[in-house]
Amino acid sequence: MSDLKSEAAALEEQFTQAITDAESLDALEQVRVAALGKKGRVSELMKGLGKMSPDERKEAGPLLNGLKARITEAITTRQDVLHDAALTVKLEQERVDVTLPVATPDAEQGRIHPNSQVIDEIVAIFADMGFDVKEGPDIETDEYNFNALNIPPEHPARQMHDTFYFHEQEDGSRLLLRTHTSPVQVRTMRSEEPPLRFIAPGRTFRCDSDQTHTPMFHQVEGMVIDKETHMGHLRWTLEEFCKAFFEVDSVEMRFRPSYFPFTEPSMEVDVRCDRSGKDIKIGQGDDWMEILGCGMVNPNVLKASNLDPEIYQGFAFGIGIDRLAMLKYGAPDLRAFFDGDARWIKHYGFSPLDVPSLYGGLSR
Ligand code: PHE
Repeated sequence: MSDLKSEAAALEEQFTQAITDAESLDALEQVRVAALGKKGRVSELMKGLGKMSPDERKEAGPLLNGLKARITEAITTRQDVLHDAALTVKLEQERVDVTLPVATPDAEQGRIHPNSQVIDEIVAIFADMGFDVKEGPDIETDEYNFNALNIPPEHPARQMHDTFYFHEQEDGSRLLLRTHTSPVQVRTMRSEEPPLRFIAPGRTFRCDSDQTHTPMFHQVEGMVIDKETHMGHLRWTLEEFCKAFFEVDSVEMRFRPSYFPFTEPSMEVDVRCDRSGKDIKIGQGDDWMEILGCGMVNPNVLKASNLDPEIYQGFAFGIGIDRLAMLKYGAPDLRAFFDGDARWIKHYGFSPLDVPSLYGGLSR
């Protein structure tokens, strides 16, 4: 019996120490298995109880049960301690500073260029009036950029366009960078049947550079061809466009007689504005600002695209996009539009997640 007592005492000391030394829940589990598992040392001792005489058992029973209870208790206590420690570490690692500013999501980082914004706005407005959107190439031929638009070679209007030409080709012809979006009129009239109703935004090029001119700039062409389309339609369309674009209830417009070879009659359109303050205000004041050229399509242009001017007629207009962007968003120098300066785009750019629409608002 004294053997059993000293063995129990030795086991208790050994396991108590091992429990104290266990630095993780895993290590502690190993100690538990070694002591109380099926083949654990304490369990083995307890199996011996069955073979003892009742007297022996009377003494050994409480001895071993006490041993088992104290080891179990020590393990539970240690478990709690290790558990708390693990939780503390986890909380420390997963700490969140709720006072930090909210991070901008990646999709919000970029900026939409004012020109792209204005194009999106123009497309939204004209799409609402039932216009398609067409595109044409930046590199054009004489035929599309000039001839078919009633500007034959030697026509004085060619001088006004400050055209960028490419090298002469083998047949003597030269490609050019389109000087306006009007060639898309020809491309569309030649490939589609009237009625036509479309706009064509895009890049245009002229050898010119100052505060309001850059060698590359943007226009949006507009065209309507049908059997009875007249100047009243043109006027209404442009008025609706201006009101929607400048987000005002009324815009006073002035149609001035002008000259374009591809329209007859031709007009330039000004809107009433106030330039006395720091920002230009549209729709009020004593000043006028020219924003577009337009007119009734010249019969020669219809003929050059195989449309019979006795049957079809229509109007066309060309708006300077960069001009509108400067006006609406108050950017004073056009050259900065194309410098690629990140600070500029951050200031003048638009959120990529705000898509212009007539019901949701064009700009914010
Ligand atoms: N293409 C002309 C320009 O660039 C603008 C315009 C387009 C005028 C259509 C009338 C009709 O100046």
